[in-house]
Amino acid sequence: MKTDPRFPNLYIVDHPLIQHKLSTMRQKGTPSNTFRQLLREISYLLGYEVTRDLPLETREIETPLCKCKTNYLSGKKLVIVPVLRAGLGMSDGLLDLMPSARIGHIGMYRGPDHRPVEYLVKLPSNLKNRKILVVDPMLATGYSAVAAVDVLLKRGVKAKDIVFVALVAAPEGVQTFQEKHPDIKVFVASLDDHLNEDAYIIPGLGDAGDRIFGTK
Ligand code: URA
Repeated sequence: MKTDPRFPNLYIVDHPLIQHKLSTMRQKGTPSNTFRQLLREISYLLGYEVTRDLPLETREIETPLCKCKTNYLSGKKLVIVPVLRAGLGMSDGLLDLMPSARIGHIGMYRGPDHRPVEYLVKLPSNLKNRKILVVDPMLATGYSAVAAVDVLLKRGVKAKDIVFVALVAAPEGVQTFQEKHPDIKVFVASLDDHLNEDAYIIPGLGDAGDRIFGTK
């Protein structure tokens, strides 16, 4: 895992398998079904790192040979919150990995000046003391990432319990996010070069939502 001296809370999960899969996702000819499957697989690999510090508890069990003490996850079930609609492509994979996680949804679309307009918030009722993974494949301007986290903070979630997970980030978006939410860790598969004038990540992979759902 790589870090970047400009962004103290950014973790770049640059495992060779992730880099290989992401390269195929970036190619413009990759069809939607392959794109979706690779996003799911990369989400497993990101999820592996993001959940590295989950607490464990020891319990006694019986194997076919003897009794032994062994570890299970402890504490409350975590919550996965995809930012609609592209975040769904990542939450599916994370849910495969953690089938008993709770799911929330935050819907935002790009309004004027690329500012996010919220149109849906549906969250599990009891968020207290749960780890929350907010997921959106593209951390571009950072505006919707900031706004999604604001929704959770307004509901009393503590910054220490939130992690933001993206596939590809632009430095501009990470900068904006870390200025507004300096205590929240951000995990990405790649930190790309820059944003273009239409707020697309370069080199990026185009519109993630369109590529996941085969729209446009
Ligand atoms: N959203 C996308 O889907 N792609 C980008 O490059 C930027 C934002």
